[in-house]
Amino acid sequence: MATLPVNNKQADILLNKLKHLGRFWSAWFRSPGSVGAVAPSSPSLAKAMVHALGDIPDGDILELGPGTGAITHYILQLTGRHVIALEKDHKMAAKLQQLLPKLEVLQGDAQYIPELLSGRQLAAVVSGLPLLNMPHEIRENIIAGAFEAMHADGVMVQFTYGPNQPIPVDLTDALGIKGKRGKKIWNNVPPATVWRFTKPLSEPKQMEQSDQPVDQPPA
Ligand SMILES: C[S@@+](CC[C@H](N)C(=O)[O-])C[C@H]1O[C@@H](n2cnc3c(N)ncnc32)[C@H](O)[C@@H]1O
Repeated sequence: MATLPVNNKQADILLNKLKHLGRFWSAWFRSPGSVGAVAPSSPSLAKAMVHALGDIPDGDILELGPGTGAITHYILQLTGRHVIALEKDHKMAAKLQQLLPKLEVLQGDAQYIPELLSGRQLAAVVSGLPLLNMPHEIRENIIAGAFEAMHADGVMVQFTYGPNQPIPVDLTDALGIKGKRGKKIWNNVPPATVWRFTKPLSEPKQMEQSDQPVDQPPA
């Protein structure tokens, strides 16, 4: 009988992946709309999300909707920053804290970021939330709260499975936020696109125009 060429290390990795999938799918059965995906993000998508942060100010990074920690692991590893993970699902939050004891896990709703962080200022927000599945008002609370909790030059990254901006343009316009399309990651189920959001400082006010040309003395 043919045997599979699997050694102990490979078997451990496989078992770990199956456990992750099991936790993800049990959360999906508890609340499919909140999870909004069929599988955890791939390592390629997770790395692309972290790289899309680019230059960020000093400070902590907040991850929204960490789930089983598919992106969390890379934020910790690639940035070396203190990471706060905000997860609504009780079971996922508890499991994540058990898996990554150094991570600061908050169990709660991303609609209440400023209240949950009690005024702490963030460098960046990495979001795995299914924003487009949410009612407009909830989405608005989340995005406004995320930008309120960040330094003025903070950065938010979000992925989407769709062709358009994952934060609708009417909302980014209303909040003065600019979105920039990043990489499309084909190696994810389903393929996903990374977006980067910032809140550019408002244009400096135009100097009041004098009737007199500046290079001529007043009459
Ligand atoms: C698409 S899964 C992403 C999981 C993980 N970040 C990944 O990329 O594999 C969305 C996660 O967001 C969580 N979530 C949904 N709504 C939330 C909310 N309002 N506040 C915090 N977490 C939320 C879900 O419980 C789920 O873990």
